[in-house]
Amino acid sequence: MSVSNPSQSKQNPSLIQAILGIVFTLLVIGGLFVAVVVVLSPAGPTVAQNLNWLFAADSVQLWWYVTRAAGIVAYLLLWFSMVLGLAVTSKYLDQLLDRMFTYDFHQFISLLSIGFVLLHIVVLSLDRYLPYSAAQILIPFLSPYRPVWVGIGVLAFYVTLLVTITFYLKRQIGSRAFRIIHAFSLLGYLGATLHGLYAGTDSVLPAMQLVYKGTGLTVLFLTVFWLVLAALRKKTAQRPVPAGGRKGQAGMRSTIAK
Ligand code: HEM
Repeated sequence: MSVSNPSQSKQNPSLIQAILGIVFTLLVIGGLFVAVVVVLSPAGPTVAQNLNWLFAADSVQLWWYVTRAAGIVAYLLLWFSMVLGLAVTSKYLDQLLDRMFTYDFHQFISLLSIGFVLLHIVVLSLDRYLPYSAAQILIPFLSPYRPVWVGIGVLAFYVTLLVTITFYLKRQIGSRAFRIIHAFSLLGYLGATLHGLYAGTDSVLPAMQLVYKGTGLTVLFLTVFWLVLAALRKKTAQRPVPAGGRKGQAGMRSTIAK
């Protein structure tokens, strides 16, 4: 059952977000400070040598590994964002979480996914084996490697970007346009799935096959669930007012709204 006090439901997530934000910022600043001190100290060259030894940081493959890892994380976050977004529209998580929290979390995970896509594509330009130019990254189908599937990834990125930007323009564009644009996220997700599956080196691994099939099927199931629910709601709303009056209809509507 959803909690009906919106001001209260808004406060808790934003307090948690603020605390997490402060802790994260302190960790990043602290980590950078320690790294700079170590690099500038007399032990700097030895540390660099050990890092190269530990992570093969000077190898040709390093950036390729990073871009692949970032791509997989971005994909998983995009999937999670879809699951949360469909929870907001279908309300299937309302028994467990306040819907405002689910909405905020959905928005945050979308941003995080975009962050990892940015890492995924910026690192492509650093790759020493097959460096990508800005045009090959930004213009669909110019990729020197699997142009069609990589091109679909570029388009999926633009769709995801557009959908995420409209979170902040909801008031200006109105909720109908917001909902229409948001429906395109399904296309963005489908594009990202095909892109990962057919452009990715790791797709041949049984584990990755399982990830793509599992994530794809959950989104398919939740989309069908949402569509069926929407059709049922429409049908109920169109039903003639029963004898006995408006009270019955209002009761029915409020049950659906829950
Ligand atoms: C929604 C946006 C995107 C997502 C979620 C995404 C995700 C992924 C995933 C999961 C892989 C497979 C990694 C692997 O199997 O190891 C991949 C591969 C790849 N992606 Fe993306 N990607 C996106 C956008 C882009 C864009 C805009 C480019 C720009 C050129 C791009 C270029 C590539 C390339 C070249 C590969 C092949 C890397 C390899 O495995 O060798 N992706 N991406």
